[in-house]
Amino acid sequence: MSYFDYQAGTLHAENVSVDKIAEQYGTPVYIYSRSALENHWQAFDDAFSAYPHLVCYAVKANSNLGVLNVLAKRGSGFDIVSMGELARVMAAGGDPAKTVFSGVGKTEQEIEYALQHGIRCFNVESIPELDRINTVAGRLGKKAPVSIRVNPDVDAQTHPYISTGLKENKFGIAIEDAREVYRSTQNMPNLDVVAVDCHIGSQLTSVAPFVDALERVLTLIDELAEDGIHIEHLDIGGGLGIHYRDETPPTPAEYAQALAPLLKDRDLEILLEPGRAIAGNAGILLTKVEFIKPTEAKCFAIVDAAMNDLLRPALYQSWQQIQTVKQHPSTKALNYDIVGPICETGDFLGKDRELALEQGDLLAIRSAGAYGFAMSSNYNSRPRAAEVMVEDDKIHLVRERETINDLFAGEHTIQA
Ligand code: LLP
Repeated sequence: MSYFDYQAGTLHAENVSVDKIAEQYGTPVYIYSRSALENHWQAFDDAFSAYPHLVCYAVKANSNLGVLNVLAKRGSGFDIVSMGELARVMAAGGDPAKTVFSGVGKTEQEIEYALQHGIRCFNVESIPELDRINTVAGRLGKKAPVSIRVNPDVDAQTHPYISTGLKENKFGIAIEDAREVYRSTQNMPNLDVVAVDCHIGSQLTSVAPFVDALERVLTLIDELAEDGIHIEHLDIGGGLGIHYRDETPPTPAEYAQALAPLLKDRDLEILLEPGRAIAGNAGILLTKVEFIKPTEAKCFAIVDAAMNDLLRPALYQSWQQIQTVKQHPSTKALNYDIVGPICETGDFLGKDRELALEQGDLLAIRSAGAYGFAMSSNYNSRPRAAEVMVEDDKIHLVRERETINDLFAGEHTIQA
């Protein structure tokens, strides 16, 4: 089901026509559907209902407080990678006790902050990180709950920049070294080693790599049991892909079904860290055509959103569907490159799109709810977009458009 569809020839987000949002809040603007977020989250929760489990939404995908708040109200846990993300979770009403902390470079300050707020678990990626957490926990007189992220060396068959479970990636501890590392934690008195975790990449469109990774991780869990190390939870990471163009990724139910034969007789709580599969198709980016510029080689539609607003096309050459908000039956469709105003040839949102366009039209870039606003920047001194969330026929502003003054707040000229 799509939460962004045409009603009477105009694109709607749930039951709000998106041109009304443009009128009220301007463009570019990110638009999220509350029902989509909730239903996508619920699909994971339902899929794993046969086990004790916790869906920890990966905050990096979309960290807007409104988004986090909607998921927190559902009882979601969270997967964070920085102190800033933990602060966001708490500001949005999320529970630190349901929050796991991933990432390869946690600072002492971040570890201290997380321990003080009582997070559920650290997903640890190296031996020096184990040492650091042990030291900080000792200083605070606390015991740190810890999981070791293992790198199972499986090929996620996704874009190389978002593949994380291969030997050559910087993530996790090689699975063949993991048993020894778990043993060594027994000499770290301030750690409570409770889990194993594994995340092999993002935008996976088949279950095979997940099954492969899980088999390897379960073997490790058995070996750890022989060493007297009892694992309470297994965090299987995120990574389930979404439909952008012609992908047919497994649903959360199919994903759970594929893992079921391996998980069913295990006494393990299952944690998951989906990001994209919850937020990706729950959002669009709305932009306005500023100019149409035909050249000898190409026809460009220059829009008011750019690579600073949505980096994925420039960074990964990713394809996201682009639609006109209103259809013009009388305008001739042409082949356009949809480009932003930034001074870089890589500043495009889509290439070779057959669209019937006029100057001033609104365009919707689909599947922009994950890794959209979250990866945006102020490059070219462009204020970041506004974000709204729709709920049936209501519009909630969940982030104000940045102002020109916001751009250099905190900067100083030299007083000399
Ligand atoms: N857990 C960990 C440890 C992760 O590193 C990630 C994503 C996730 C969970 C969530 O993965 P998801 O379910 O969203 O696939 N910027 C890229 C995606 C980078 C993903 C990084 N890690 C993109 O726009 O495609």
